Amino acid sequence: MSVLGIDEITFAASDLTRCKQFFTDWGMRLVSESAQTLVFETLNGCRVIAADPVSPGLPPGLEADPTVREVVWGVQDEATFQRLGQAMRNQPGFMQTTDRFGCTDPNGLAVRVQVSRKKEVAPACAQTNTWSQRTRLNQPSPTYERAEPIEVGHVVFFVTDLATVSPFYEDLLGFVISDRYPGRGHFLRCAPEGGHHDLFLLQTPEARKGLNHVAFTVRDVHEVFGGGMHMSRCGWETELGPGRHPISSAIFWYFNSPAGALWEYYTDEDELTAAWQPREFTPGPTVFAEWAIKGGIDGHTRRQINAAAPSGRFMTDKPKG
Ligand SMILES: [Fe+2]
Repeated sequence: MSVLGIDEITFAASDLTRCKQFFTDWGMRLVSESAQTLVFETLNGCRVIAADPVSPGLPPGLEADPTVREVVWGVQDEATFQRLGQAMRNQPGFMQTTDRFGCTDPNGLAVRVQVSRKKEVAPACAQTNTWSQRTRLNQPSPTYERAEPIEVGHVVFFVTDLATVSPFYEDLLGFVISDRYPGRGHFLRCAPEGGHHDLFLLQTPEARKGLNHVAFTVRDVHEVFGGGMHMSRCGWETELGPGRHPISSAIFWYFNSPAGALWEYYTDEDELTAAWQPREFTPGPTVFAEWAIKGGIDGHTRRQINAAAPSGRFMTDKPKG
């Protein structure tokens, strides 16, 4: 198929100093910096940009800053790039440069495509031993002092007209519906084979436009916890998490971001094929999260890190009575 995933995302935010600290603590690498722009990369080269709202050339936002101004989707090859460019040609806001085509989606967001610049990575990930499958042999499971996200895995937008925004992504870019809240939300993946969702469009009764969250894929469940606790230790505020989504099966942790809305660490989402049949759900807290911790986990929970040297006693070794 055609679109592979998110290659780049640009936020407009006036407090670049705070964004720089948040992005760094989040686990991304700063690749370039100017007075008005910060360019960070995740492990596989997915770019996350924070720009001062006065920067020239920024597309308009769906809501007041800070928020996302542009999403660039990576495609697999030049032929796909040219084909999608042609398809965009009659859309509002059509633009073209030597390496990008773009237009404005029906919700008002600047959407771009480019031949993907992300690189293949194969980071070591935890193997999970279950009762029936013992794949991790003679090997401890990893712990993480902090996260190093692999890529931006999905974005979630509030839309005012799901019935027109969803077909834009399905018909123009080839996205496929994975699951639905009928009339209220569509989970979309870029192609029939892939992770549960690359895009979630959410229509709330308040009929607002904007960013709900941006989600970063990490290696495994341990990195969600390690990354989340590091962010907590750095003083960043948890919105919700850790927790687990029943719809995609993913383990998550959401933080409030100075670049806008929420940022999520997640892992272990369902992998789907063309055989998957979309399900329908009714919105509600237990559909959103099977379980979740409201205030996060204290970043100093792993008390042994700050404790005195081993004393020969276990932490659970308490006198009776
Ligand atoms: Fe998410």
